[in-house]
Amino acid sequence: IKTIGILTSGGDAPGMNAAIRAVVRKAISNGVKVKGIKRGYQGLLNEEIVDMQARSVSDIIQRGGTVLGTARCQEFKTEAGQKKGAEICHKHGIDGLVVIGGDGSYQGAQALSRHGINTIGLPGTIDLDIACTDYTIGFDTAVNTAMQAIDKVRDTSSSHERCSIIEVMGRNAGYIALWCGVANGAEDILLPEKYDYNEQNIINNIINNRKRGKTHHLIINAEGIGHSTSMARRIEAATGVETRATILGYMQRGGSPTCKDRYYASIMGCLAADILCEGKTNRVIGYRHGEFQDFDIEDALAMQKDIPEYEYRISKLLAI
Ligand code: F6P
Repeated sequence: IKTIGILTSGGDAPGMNAAIRAVVRKAISNGVKVKGIKRGYQGLLNEEIVDMQARSVSDIIQRGGTVLGTARCQEFKTEAGQKKGAEICHKHGIDGLVVIGGDGSYQGAQALSRHGINTIGLPGTIDLDIACTDYTIGFDTAVNTAMQAIDKVRDTSSSHERCSIIEVMGRNAGYIALWCGVANGAEDILLPEKYDYNEQNIINNIINNRKRGKTHHLIINAEGIGHSTSMARRIEAATGVETRATILGYMQRGGSPTCKDRYYASIMGCLAADILCEGKTNRVIGYRHGEFQDFDIEDALAMQKDIPEYEYRISKLLAI
């Protein structure tokens, strides 16, 4: 490998910059050149490619977002788009590529690998929904941002003796909702993976809690379930308890990464550069069973993970 390309793809996540910095600097220390590809696969197709040096990644480890920019690219899902992307890599001398993103982004990496570009995926998503890894870059920051926001909503919710439904991100995965639900002491947690949603149960729960002297009722609602605003209207009508919906939205994806996100992103970025330099391709890095590992992309995409049953059960039990 003489030249490594690097891109970020899909939703941005705090810690992506730390990963970019690590890839660039480790590759340089391995004697390999690095080219940054702007705006994900779309930028690759548009040939938005810049040379990167050690100084190109100065002063970014503490910044949220991604300095390379990111995009979701439909054209790259087609065979023609993937072939064109590989040709552009060859034209620019890029023989290895690091893709930082989620599951969707790995499919693009897999396709480029078929076309002769050595590729490595790094798990970058706030959703924690990549099965081969217990950790994804951005989750820790996002969940801390959401937790702090929910604490604030709780203050005002208690003061007004209201019920609050707080919708968190995660697409079809409930990890942010579960972690916040436990960490914020929510009375109810609604997760797409454990879809036993029963509005009447929630209504009964609110009424019983009022009788027992609770001044607020926090419901954490995962994005995959949604409809928080109409749910709030129905719950208020049925319980007589003022109910408000708060959708946290994109604030969960921004902000300076936590120490954990910076640390894991730095290690994973270095591993990606090393693995490419060893000549491996079609791999994805994960952190599993207490250690950093790499997996074949196809195997990684075939894996599945779920919310652990015990963690879900105790999340319900603690807010009695
Ligand atoms: O995958 C990260 C994520 O923030 C999800 O939690 C959310 O569903 C999605 O991206 C939103 O994507 P977009 O930025 O395209 O609105």
